Amino acid sequence: MKKVFVKSYGCQMNVYDAERMADMLATEGYSETKAMEEADLVILNTCHIREKAAEKVYSELGRVRELKQEREAAGQETRIVVAGCVAQAEGKEILRRQPAVDVVVGPQNYHRLPDLLKKSRSERLVDTEFPIEDKFDHLPAPSKAKTISRGVSAFLTIQEGCDKFCTFCVVPYTRGAEVSRPVARILDEAMRLADAGVRELTLIGQNVNAYHGEGPDGSVWSLGRLLRRLAEVPGIARLRYTTSHPRDMDEELIAAHGDLPALMPYLHLPVQSGSDRILDAMNRKHTGDEYRRLIERIRKVQPDLALSSDFIVGFPGETDQDFEDTMRLVADIGFASSFSFKYSPRPGTPAAEMGEQVAEAVKAERLSRLQNLLETQRQAFNHGTVGQTLDVLLEKPGRHPGQIAGKSPYLQAVQFESDVHRIGEIVTVRIVRAGSNSLFGEWVKPGDRAAA
Ligand code: 5AD
Ligand code: SF4
Repeated sequence: MKKVFVKSYGCQMNVYDAERMADMLATEGYSETKAMEEADLVILNTCHIREKAAEKVYSELGRVRELKQEREAAGQETRIVVAGCVAQAEGKEILRRQPAVDVVVGPQNYHRLPDLLKKSRSERLVDTEFPIEDKFDHLPAPSKAKTISRGVSAFLTIQEGCDKFCTFCVVPYTRGAEVSRPVARILDEAMRLADAGVRELTLIGQNVNAYHGEGPDGSVWSLGRLLRRLAEVPGIARLRYTTSHPRDMDEELIAAHGDLPALMPYLHLPVQSGSDRILDAMNRKHTGDEYRRLIERIRKVQPDLALSSDFIVGFPGETDQDFEDTMRLVADIGFASSFSFKYSPRPGTPAAEMGEQVAEAVKAERLSRLQNLLETQRQAFNHGTVGQTLDVLLEKPGRHPGQIAGKSPYLQAVQFESDVHRIGEIVTVRIVRAGSNSLFGEWVKPGDRAAA
């Protein structure tokens, strides 16, 4: 059997896509390996969101090329594929910069990989056209054993691409226009996952709450409606979705946060900046106060909500005052977790051409101040759960023997003493301590509940 090694960078959709590529190659006789040295086929599933992410690919390719040469000397062949968003954005340039690469394939074309691998025996190939056919129609389902091996929490792509055109972002160019998968397909996939023991589904899309898929009755379903339907799938106990745009939080979705117990009390809702001027230049089409009011509306139906966001500092033209507006918004709202970045100009995006680029040192100083505040909020949120009893979905063996690791409803990692046979169960755990990256707890057995 031939072996394939897939390495994913960037977002959760890349993780999902990497699994789909592995599933497809399984039908071509490839088994997955976690050791690149023994792979007959190496796939780098790349990310183009920031310059650093894209540059990583070229340095990794240098290492893969050395490996290819070493294996060649030992009489073994290694084929190299660059997939994902760098592939889409840079295409032929990758073949030019790295002669060891055999195939470059974009995120909408990877269903053609088996064919591309065959054809690339005679010439190196690039496939980055946006195809007319839907790749999902061509992707085989993994075996049940494979799904089981991937764990009790799974990603499910329901939407891809983006039509928002935030001025900093490459996604509309790399992932293309917004497309929603039909409800029936999503339900099939959810039922297959549940049948293999999956308990938690995270619905993913570049702009997941813009979902508007065709329902079984031919009408258009929103994300709120889809979540309600998925909550009825036997075995599925937890639902999450990511990543969202504030402008697409409609009434149906907000209501779902209030009355759908399976929808976890955690929301990743990127705001990017707290300055109205910068939000406008980013083409976000909302103000800081509109974001605050939106959060108020969601907290009204679900007061128990952990919030998460993405932030960019040093967007072109960002002044000290603009940055202070971001700090104020963070202080006003309070985030349980977050991701924050220095603005990175991306080729082909409007912001990259804007006049007043912010100096690197200023970006670094702002990022460090923002991250200090966000980290304080994260720690405060985690410490706030000490003493509480939380439902924990048991996912995998813990760091130490006899420990098991799972997730709280707020997406916090939780460790406690238990045996691994319980993986997939949701148990009640009393949180006794908050470490820097996980919570530590004690299992509250059903009989102990009264004492808890
Ligand atoms: N520079 C810095 N951060 C960016 N992001 C997207 N594009 C850029 C960029 N050009 C961040 C945004 C987005 C997250 C996925 O990445 O915060 O929400
Ligand atoms: Fe990176 Fe965006 Fe592509 Fe995901 S969609 S891999 S975040 S560039």
